Amino acid sequence: MPLRGNSRRGGRRRARIALALLAGVIAAGGELALTRAQTVATPSVLAGIYSEEQAIRGQTLYNERCWQCHGETLAGLDQAPALVGPQFAGNWQGEPLSALVTKIDTMPPDKPGSLTRAESVDILSYVLWYNGLPVGEQMLVGEQDILKKIPFESPLPAGP
Ligand code: HEC
Repeated sequence: MPLRGNSRRGGRRRARIALALLAGVIAAGGELALTRAQTVATPSVLAGIYSEEQAIRGQTLYNERCWQCHGETLAGLDQAPALVGPQFAGNWQGEPLSALVTKIDTMPPDKPGSLTRAESVDILSYVLWYNGLPVGEQMLVGEQDILKKIPFESPLPAGP
């Protein structure tokens, strides 16, 4: 009899430990879910941050002011580097879009500052589209404070 009693108490203790462990797992799970939600709230180029119309306007501007040097397929020509592919992705990976749009503002090199900010952002949208980044519902805005928080990421595997 005493043996059985002991074993029952032991069983109850084990059950309590199991419950405590379960509570710990649930708490950890809750924390995990929170981290994931925070990640989603951060704007990402992979989530579709420019609109299709914007990229189309950007294409028109690109074909007027950029293609002579950077090429019709953005592959680059002579001195002008490619604006697509692993080399470009390597140059800009993790850099904020504010830096990329600031660079576009200096183009073409013989007429820096000739693009309005809206035009530069439209061209940026076209460049993102060409790099395989998805179209979204919302237009990308030109405020540096916002662009600063969005790093360039390539959907391509890292190049050599
Ligand atoms: C007259 C030729 C010429 C024209 C036109 C031109 N570019 Fe460039 N671009 C260059 C050269 C040369 C470089 C490399 C030197 C530099 O970074 O300033 C360059 C560099 C760049 C870079 C940096 C690329 C990198 O990975 O470092 C971007 C972005 C860019 N151009 C965008 C544009 C856009 C957008 C337009 C059209 C509005 C444009 N360029 C028009 C010649 C040109």
